[in-house]
Amino acid sequence: SRPIRIAPSILSADFGRLAEEVAAIDAAGADYIHVDIMDGHFVPNISFGPAVMASVRQVTQKPFDVHLMVAPVDPYIAAFAKAGADVITVHAEAGPHLHRTLQAIRAEGKNAGVAINPGTPVSAVEAVLDDIDLLLVMSVNPGFGGQAFIPGTLDKLRQARALVGNRPIEIEVDGGITADNARAVADAGATVFVAGSSVFGGNETQTYPHRIAAIRSA
Ligand code: DX5
Ligand code: ZN
Repeated sequence: SRPIRIAPSILSADFGRLAEEVAAIDAAGADYIHVDIMDGHFVPNISFGPAVMASVRQVTQKPFDVHLMVAPVDPYIAAFAKAGADVITVHAEAGPHLHRTLQAIRAEGKNAGVAINPGTPVSAVEAVLDDIDLLLVMSVNPGFGGQAFIPGTLDKLRQARALVGNRPIEIEVDGGITADNARAVADAGATVFVAGSSVFGGNETQTYPHRIAAIRSA
């Protein structure tokens, strides 16, 4: 079976103690740090920008998995590369020039990802499979943490796995992931599990190792 990575989403962290929260999930066993960037335009919420990300980047060596819910996104690629992103994921729905955007990410020396919303078919990424390192299948409509997993995502994950085949592309799932659905999601083909509210819960640092381990062992 394929290696599984857990990527806690710091959208559900306590923003007043963001650097401590990032250090805490690192120590708790996170594989990647998932960073949700929301622009109040592509999605109906605003999170934070590259300056905030850069200021917490130094507290961990773990890869930063940056999910840009931004349109247009091209003007911000360089800033997030400079702020310490390792993977930069953009939405297939965010603009007409997806291939150009992916080339810009790789030109920065970063891994490139494409995200698809629940209403977007997997076939939307068929033409860019040679240009991506990660395919993010959204299991909620992006914009907020704490939403319920959309069951039809399992079928989309199976389609994504069939499309990707044995290419070196990670399949990431994001939204409503818990220890209760992680097994089904893994069986459907996901290898990277984003988890916001199910890791951060009430922001009680001492529970993070157990919460991450529960998803991993499921
Ligand atoms: C949703 C974000 C997710 C979100 C996940 O727009 O992309 O990363 O933080 O949060 P949970 O795990 O609570 O659904
Ligand atoms: Zn996300």
